[in-house]
Amino acid sequence: MNVVESARAFSDALEDARRTGGCIGFVPTMGALHGGHRSLIERAVRECDLAAVSIFVNPLQFDRADDLERYPRQLATDLELCADLGVDVVFAPEVSELYPDWPQPPVTRVTVGPEAAAWEGAERPGHFEGVTTVVAKLFALVGRCRAYFGEKDFQQLVVIRRMVRDLGFPVELVACPTVREPSGLALSSRNGRLDAGQRAAARVLSRALATGARMINEGQRDPAKVSDAVGKVVASEPSALLRYAAVVDAETLSVPELLGTRPVRILVAAEVGGVHLIDNCDPSVFAHEFAAEEPACNVA
Ligand code: PAF
Repeated sequence: MNVVESARAFSDALEDARRTGGCIGFVPTMGALHGGHRSLIERAVRECDLAAVSIFVNPLQFDRADDLERYPRQLATDLELCADLGVDVVFAPEVSELYPDWPQPPVTRVTVGPEAAAWEGAERPGHFEGVTTVVAKLFALVGRCRAYFGEKDFQQLVVIRRMVRDLGFPVELVACPTVREPSGLALSSRNGRLDAGQRAAARVLSRALATGARMINEGQRDPAKVSDAVGKVVASEPSALLRYAAVVDAETLSVPELLGTRPVRILVAAEVGGVHLIDNCDPSVFAHEFAAEEPACNVA
């Protein structure tokens, strides 16, 4: 496995595959790799001629300095996992490699569309601009590729899809299902910051989604009624502080007048033990209530 730190070396490492028309599978990450990343990397390795992973904790997408500082970093373990999974190239740059003037942010940034305004965009000002800017830089280095993103960060996926369309990157986005613990908790690098009690409390997010999905599947057409119910389930957990619960159009992320005409997604976010957690589901495949002893259920 080739591990590179410079942008030039990363781009050069993919040159042969590019020249010979080989399919490049690219998985951008911020490291602290878990089972969710593993599923993306396995697919990239399986489906492409060359698999490349980037590991970069992007300071531009953090709105809080303490959040950036506490973000887990475990490069050695991440590299071992990538090697085990058959990754060909890992790009693990220093901050100065991608942002030479840091702590001055780059002046040229990618402006995000209306999909980024609400939900996580409202919770974390500047977050999506930071995401699109770094992903655009990475896409520019990789060139034509299939890029694998998890549906766990559903709004991010929608925002990046819009960027790819608007800016014409030669990138095919591959959306991969959220990977969950048997309890229903969606895998996330942030889960590592939860103690056992907080981890148990965090399961309320998937339970809340299951409640919303059931209501929609049983014919509820008022999105406000569903989001209220989802919020109430979260609020029933004393250690969880609800940030938002919403039923949104799966493409625009705006709240529809009535459910039942277009595909929707249920979004939920809460703070547990001071850690910001998000989850979402497609209600048409998530009418399943999680209990501790039930098997893992991936949103397909
Ligand atoms: O989803 C993430 O890990 C990050 O937002 C990404 C896409 C790697 C950009 O920093």
